[in-house]
Amino acid sequence: MKADVFTLFPQWFDWFRTQRHVENAYALGHSVDAIDFRETTPLKWGQVDDEPFGGGAGMVLRVDTMEAALRARYDEDPVSVKERRRVIALTPSGRLLDDALATELAAEDEITLLCGRYEGFDERILDHFVSDQVSIGRYVLAGGELAAMVVLDTVLRKLPGVLGDDQSAIEESYSEALDGAPEYPHYTRPADWRGWAVPDVLLSGHHARVEEWRRAQSRARAERPLP
Ligand code: ADE
Repeated sequence: MKADVFTLFPQWFDWFRTQRHVENAYALGHSVDAIDFRETTPLKWGQVDDEPFGGGAGMVLRVDTMEAALRARYDEDPVSVKERRRVIALTPSGRLLDDALATELAAEDEITLLCGRYEGFDERILDHFVSDQVSIGRYVLAGGELAAMVVLDTVLRKLPGVLGDDQSAIEESYSEALDGAPEYPHYTRPADWRGWAVPDVLLSGHHARVEEWRRAQSRARAERPLP
């Protein structure tokens, strides 16, 4: 997967790339490029935003500066870029990120993420340049960068070979393998700590019974109301 992230803070992604699973993804030929859209603005002084028409607080990212950045990167009208790769704007009101969406995005060869700042995007960016709007929760962040990292974190770990054991990303909370249910509880050594004992079945060495217990735990968690 080639992921392009359009941001005013490309250096934030230097840290993101140091995570083990992101390094693994790189070693397998995947990449995350952070593109500073201030560098391609046709306006003076690196301007990328402006006051909202009609008045009001905050600044809005301009459609012309976003177009310039997308054209510079793809050498193509951004209206058609979205026909061949998913161009995703991170917005608080977008489609909520969940395991199904992460799995869908992990199947793409190329994706583009647009990080908003200030009051957000001029609506024409969303109407004409973007194929998807994605939210990581119903609250407002100061910008889309952290949301983009959350999306990339969950997408990259689904790519084959990125985690030490591919099985980790297959059978985990909310995955199809667990019918969308939360994952079962995990335990490790010591088997007893202050009288808090690990369930006997996990020490039994009986594979089928362990499997059955885990499924039952996972189903029970799905039935419990969310905290
Ligand atoms: N940008 C600002 N808030 C956001 C959110 N909750 N999800 C995605 N992008 C955002």
